[in-house]
Amino acid sequence: MKKSSLILLQWVCVIFLLAFVVSAKSNIKIFNVKKFGAVANGKTDCSKALLNAWQRACTWKGGAMVRIPSGNYYVGRPTSFVGPCKGKIQFEIKGLLKAPTGISGFSDTWIKFRYVNGLIVYGGGTLDGQGHSAWKYNDCHKNTNCRNLPANLRFDFVTDAIIDRIHSLDSKSLHINLFACRNVNLKSITITAPAESPNTDGIHIGDSSFINILHSKIGTGDDCISLSPGSENIYVYGVTCGPGHGISVGSLGQRKNEESVLGLVVKNCTFIGTDNGVRIKTWAPSEPGLVRNLTFDHIFMDRVLNPVVIDQQYCPYQSCAHKSPSRVRIQDVHYRNIWGTSASKTAVNFVCSKSVPCKYVELKNINLLYHGKDGKASANCSNLDGFAAVQMIPPCYCR
Ligand SMILES: *[C@@H]1O[C@H](CO)[C@@H](O)[C@H](O)[C@H]1NC(C)=O
Ligand SMILES: *[C@@H]1O[C@H](CO)[C@@H](O)[C@H](O)[C@H]1NC(C)=O
Ligand SMILES: *[C@@H]1O[C@H](CO)[C@@H](O)[C@H](O)[C@H]1NC(C)=O
Repeated sequence: MKKSSLILLQWVCVIFLLAFVVSAKSNIKIFNVKKFGAVANGKTDCSKALLNAWQRACTWKGGAMVRIPSGNYYVGRPTSFVGPCKGKIQFEIKGLLKAPTGISGFSDTWIKFRYVNGLIVYGGGTLDGQGHSAWKYNDCHKNTNCRNLPANLRFDFVTDAIIDRIHSLDSKSLHINLFACRNVNLKSITITAPAESPNTDGIHIGDSSFINILHSKIGTGDDCISLSPGSENIYVYGVTCGPGHGISVGSLGQRKNEESVLGLVVKNCTFIGTDNGVRIKTWAPSEPGLVRNLTFDHIFMDRVLNPVVIDQQYCPYQSCAHKSPSRVRIQDVHYRNIWGTSASKTAVNFVCSKSVPCKYVELKNINLLYHGKDGKASANCSNLDGFAAVQMIPPCYCR
């Protein structure tokens, strides 16, 4: 075929594809929340309007979309969008959703999606949790039975979903929580809260599998991403964390019959000024548990206090005094291509369990310097069974 006819053929294809996309789009029935009584004045409570729009969209046979146009919408109470829906459903947020101040009337969440398959939440909009008004009610640093403040956004039993271009601001507690979800892609998410805001984890995952977190920027007061029991096949790529506490697996071993954490890949990520970089933590004493098959690859640390951590003596309260070691097994952990600076002298610190030592930990091509006078960091480890370190600065000192 001649080159010119090939190009022509390409164009015909592109035009057909565009026509297809446009027609697919126009097949979607749009439910604009303004038509359901939402007023974008930042004062009128729009929760009822949002729920009514959702109700109609969710029961629509075929593709449907709830549209929240630009503007400032006050969503004055906990609001749950519950499926299953009749067809595929999109939730477009262009505007700013604003939570009430304080915590009265709240339980665990402000905005929640439950039992939805094929959900798409997107649009570049913002969820403002107004956390400044609530953080003072958090007493978790001194009270083990502390009350959970509401998360900004929660997904329970959501499957085959995409969460794209959503900004979570100043959540009262966790920003985005995934529970019992499967096959969810989170991309271009931005999360913002002050470094000193308590328990404001960026994305918290539990009892969920095949979750991708891609190209996102998370700066908050607690963990950037945290994985609790039952997290399986989690893939984190192109995420920038800071401020905050870094990417954390755990704390594990607190409850009986806990699910394992299996298959985590953290790749091409940057940590800026965080307390930790990549951390696995288990309680001591603890119930039995398993963490297995984790890979941390291609990671840049910029003045991170504790860049690489396994802490099997996690016990933030004075009440637990390490009476016995953790019984959570940590196995098959790979650290590859990690470089940058540590804000403390100890760049790598593995404190594994005496009763179940960490098994098969690999470090390869590590180059971490101390961000201080002599630039020399150290790497410590204890209780490892099967350990390989190649091309590693600082060299690992194992007890
Ligand atoms: C790594 O992640 C950063 C931040 O998201 C992104 O800009 C960059 O393109 C990624 N690198 C590759 C090779 O994909
Ligand atoms: C380890 O985890 C990766 C990523 O989640 C997964 O693709 C792989 O199959 C797992 N390997 C084993 C041996 O479980
Ligand atoms: C790591 O080992 C070095 C050298 O033995 C020591 O000075 C440092 O305190 C250790 N760090 C931790 C956190 O145990």
